[in-house]
Amino acid sequence: MSPAPARLLTRKGGPLRGTARVPGDKSITHRAIILAGMARGTSTVAGYLGGEDCLATLAAFRRMGVEAGDKDGLLTLESPGWAGLKEPDTVLDCGNSGTTARLLCGLLAGLPFFSVLTGDASLRGRPMARVTEPLVRMGADIRGREAGRLLPLALCGRRLTGTDHVTPVASAQIKSALLLAGLTAEGETAVTEPARSRDHTERMLPAFGGRLRRDDLTVSVHGGQTLKAARVEVPADLSSATFLIAAATLVPDSEVVLPGVGVNPTRDGVLEVLTAMGADIERRDERTLGEEPVADLVVRHAPLKGVEVSPELVPRTIDELPMLLALAARAEGTTTVRGAAELRVKESDRIAALARELRRVGARVDEYPDGLSVHGPASLQGNACESHGDHRMAMAMAVLGLVAEGEMAVDAAPIATSFPGFADALKGLGARVAER
Ligand code: S3P
Repeated sequence: MSPAPARLLTRKGGPLRGTARVPGDKSITHRAIILAGMARGTSTVAGYLGGEDCLATLAAFRRMGVEAGDKDGLLTLESPGWAGLKEPDTVLDCGNSGTTARLLCGLLAGLPFFSVLTGDASLRGRPMARVTEPLVRMGADIRGREAGRLLPLALCGRRLTGTDHVTPVASAQIKSALLLAGLTAEGETAVTEPARSRDHTERMLPAFGGRLRRDDLTVSVHGGQTLKAARVEVPADLSSATFLIAAATLVPDSEVVLPGVGVNPTRDGVLEVLTAMGADIERRDERTLGEEPVADLVVRHAPLKGVEVSPELVPRTIDELPMLLALAARAEGTTTVRGAAELRVKESDRIAALARELRRVGARVDEYPDGLSVHGPASLQGNACESHGDHRMAMAMAVLGLVAEGEMAVDAAPIATSFPGFADALKGLGARVAER
C-alpha cells in the first residue's frame, strides 16, 4: 500500500456531476463488529466501513479471540460469544476512535479478565468519566489517569450489577457503553437520556437475538443474554455524505446522486438544517436496509441563507456541524449554533478549530463557549489550513477550497479515520483535487 498523501489540495473548478458511492456508516459498522464479536457463531457485515476507527474496534476483538476476515468487501466474524472472549495479551489501542474506547469500556468492565484501553494523543485527552463513573456505580473496577477520567484505562473485569442511569448529555456512546455493560450484568440496566441520541445499538441488538425495552427516552436491557450470529447490512454514512452534499450545494450548476445513504431520524438533522438554508436535496426511493432507513440523495447547487440552528437539533446534527458551519461562510446572512459545547470534546475542539481555520480563509466568525456564529457571505481565500488532527475539519476545509480563490491545502492523513477514498470521490465528481 502506498503511504497516505501528506496534503490534499482543492481549488475552484466546474460543476460537480455524477454518482458517488459514500463508504459505510461508521457508527453502524462499530456496532456491527461489537455485536458480532459478542454473538456466538459466524456473523457477516456487508457494506462495512474499512476506516481506521472501525479497524481499531475489529483489532480489539481479534485480540480477544474473534476470527475475522474480509472476502470481496464482506466482513466475517466468528465468535465464541461474549462469555467466551479471552483476555487480550496486550493493550487495546483505540487509535482516534471515541466510539471504540467508550463502547469497549462498557463491554470489558463486565468480562472476567484484565484489559487496558488506550488511544492516540487526541483520544487520550477526551473525557472518559462519562462512561467510567456510571460503570463504577455498576460495580466496575476501572483505573486510569486523573482518577479514571482519561485513557489509558485499566479494567479488572468483574460481574456488574444492573443499574438505572440518567445521563447528563445525550450521547450514544454513553448509552451504548452502558447497554453493553448491562448485557453482561446481573439484573436490569436502564439508561435515560436528556434527548434522544442516535439509536443504532437499539435497532441492531434485536437482529442478534438481544432483547431490550424502549420507553420514550429510556432504554433498558436484561443481563446475561446470549446473542446469536447475524447478518448486518451497513448503509452509506450520512456524516461522510455531508461533505459531498455540501460540495454539490456550494459549486454552481452541480448535480450529484448519493445512493443508499442512511437517513435515520436520530441522525438526519443536517438535511433539515441545509434545507432551511435553501439547499436542494431530494430524497428518492426511501426504504430500509436491515434495521435502518436509507434513501438515494440527489443534491443540486442552490444559493444559501444563514439560519439559527436550534439547540434541540444539535444532538441530531453533532458530527455535521463542522461542515455546516464552514459552508455557512458562503451563505447570505448569519448562521448561529449554540448549545453545542460537546463540539469542544470531539476529535478536536471543533469550536476553536473552526473559528481559527475559517478566519484563516477570510470568514467572519464569533466564538462562544458553546457554539459559533458565522457571518456570510465571505469571499474565501484558499490557504494552508490545519486539520487539528481531525478528519471532519480536514474534509470541511477541503470542500470550502472548491469555492475559494487560490488553493486550499489541508493535512490529509486524518481523513482515513472515516472516509477513505474522499479525494477520489470528489475527483470522480469532477472536482479539482490533488494529493501531494
Ligand atoms: C457516536 C456518537 C456521537 C458521535 C460520534 C459517534 C457513536 O458521540 O459524535 O462521532 O457512534 O455512538 P457522542 O455519543 O459522544 O455524542
